[in-house]
Amino acid sequence: MAFSKFNTYIHPTVIEISTLKMFETLQPRIHAILLNTERDRDEKLLAICKLLKSEIPHYDWVGFYFRNGEKEELKLGPYAGAPTDHTIIPFGKGICGQVAVSNANFVVPDVAAQDNYIACSITVKAEIVVPLFVDGKNIGQIDIDSNTPDPFTEADERFLEFVNQEVAKIL
Ligand code: SME
Repeated sequence: MAFSKFNTYIHPTVIEISTLKMFETLQPRIHAILLNTERDRDEKLLAICKLLKSEIPHYDWVGFYFRNGEKEELKLGPYAGAPTDHTIIPFGKGICGQVAVSNANFVVPDVAAQDNYIACSITVKAEIVVPLFVDGKNIGQIDIDSNTPDPFTEADERFLEFVNQEVAKIL
């Protein structure tokens, strides 16, 4: 059961609406970052990572991985959050490497229940990875780690698909 900070019961639908409102409010801010001609590509991606990490309470690490040239591996791009050792991830390894191969969103409510998972920090409880397509080709992904157990809904998937579609336009 969900309670507000005033300890009153909040119907789950209300939480969903406030989350949707939060994602909706972020959309013009993402457009503004991407349209800023004074920033280069990586500065824009970094600004998006910082925006999502600071504005979305259940996003504790936000980063982009991209295919490393023609190699069957991902390379870490701009990110916000704790530094990670996993700057190169082979295709098929971990949640990120699996998305590089499957071309599908991967929502992990509980990372401890995953066999093929690369741990970045012991505080991480859940993860979502959404592929980024340019001209129909999977060229990378956005990766979110959360310290909250099971925090992601379809609203996160739709929002992150929107982010990636907009980012794809500047790549
Ligand atoms: N947990 C990811 C590795 C990347 S870190 O989350 C930054 C995975 O299993 O692919």
